[in-house]
Amino acid sequence: MAAAPVAVQEDDQIQFAQSAPYDEYVHASTLHTLQRTISDDAGEMSFLVVSQIMELYFGLIRFELREAQRLVRDDEVWGALEPLRRAGLHLEGLNASWRTLRWMSPADFNRFRGQLGEASGFQSAMYRHMEFALGLKSETLIRPFRRQRAVYAQLTRDIREPSLWDEVVALLARRGNDIPAEVLERDRTRDHEPDPAVEDAWVRVYAEPNPGNDLWLLAEALTEVGEQFSDWRYLHLKAVLRTLGDKPGTAGSSGASWLRRSMARPVFPELWSARTHM
Ligand code: HEM
Repeated sequence: MAAAPVAVQEDDQIQFAQSAPYDEYVHASTLHTLQRTISDDAGEMSFLVVSQIMELYFGLIRFELREAQRLVRDDEVWGALEPLRRAGLHLEGLNASWRTLRWMSPADFNRFRGQLGEASGFQSAMYRHMEFALGLKSETLIRPFRRQRAVYAQLTRDIREPSLWDEVVALLARRGNDIPAEVLERDRTRDHEPDPAVEDAWVRVYAEPNPGNDLWLLAEALTEVGEQFSDWRYLHLKAVLRTLGDKPGTAGSSGASWLRRSMARPVFPELWSARTHM
């Protein structure tokens, strides 16, 4: 006879005095108070929740990238592979979230779009922090936050810090590659300008594609992160074209064409361009 399934907690007398330990840890009851829709349209709920899920992923991915950055700075390349692998997997989860918005036609979106006012993901401070970690830096994009003192102060501090890519390029220099001083001491508040010396360094790294080569493994882990991030941008554009067409965005941009320009800023540029020379 098959054994009866074991209940997780058989003693139904057990009760928690204040809150359940699960809630103390996960704060689920707080999370479930944050879905404050602004229209009567039932479809808005999934737009709001997916936006919140993506925000949480932005924060998580940035956390992993910064952890990887710290380890690279300390020359712990093997250790950095772990948070990078996690970042790549979180990006996959983030990207999968777009699927649950595919029900939305222009008419569905129009039912609540007007009520979003000027609200746009463009104003996500955490997305900008994530971009900074990836090496995408633009002071213009943080100007809209100027009046929110604390948010702006954090963004201003963060944009001046080296990105993960800056730390990786510094590592290449420490490993004997001749990287020009102007690349190593560049203005951190701007996008990294691709440099032929960095490209050459990657060509050399890829000449030894074996599991003992930590730099090659690092390059592949970064490639995965860069690719998955590009996928997010592409999937976003597709969602925009599907629901909005070429109409202007709620933040006042030209919409899809603005996003295409934003997508053209490459992440980890020399990791891609170096492939032409391999
Ligand atoms: C299908 C619904 C969506 C539409 C039509 C849409 C539309 C747009 C548009 C037109 C822009 C350009 C700025 C503007 O003028 O608003 C933008 C930027 C942005 N949106 Fe969305 N969006 C959608 C869903 C989302 C979701 C769910 C998120 C997740 C939080 C998001 C995050 C962002 C971010 C981070 C940017 C800035 C991108 C960059 O700087 O390259 N969007 N969106």
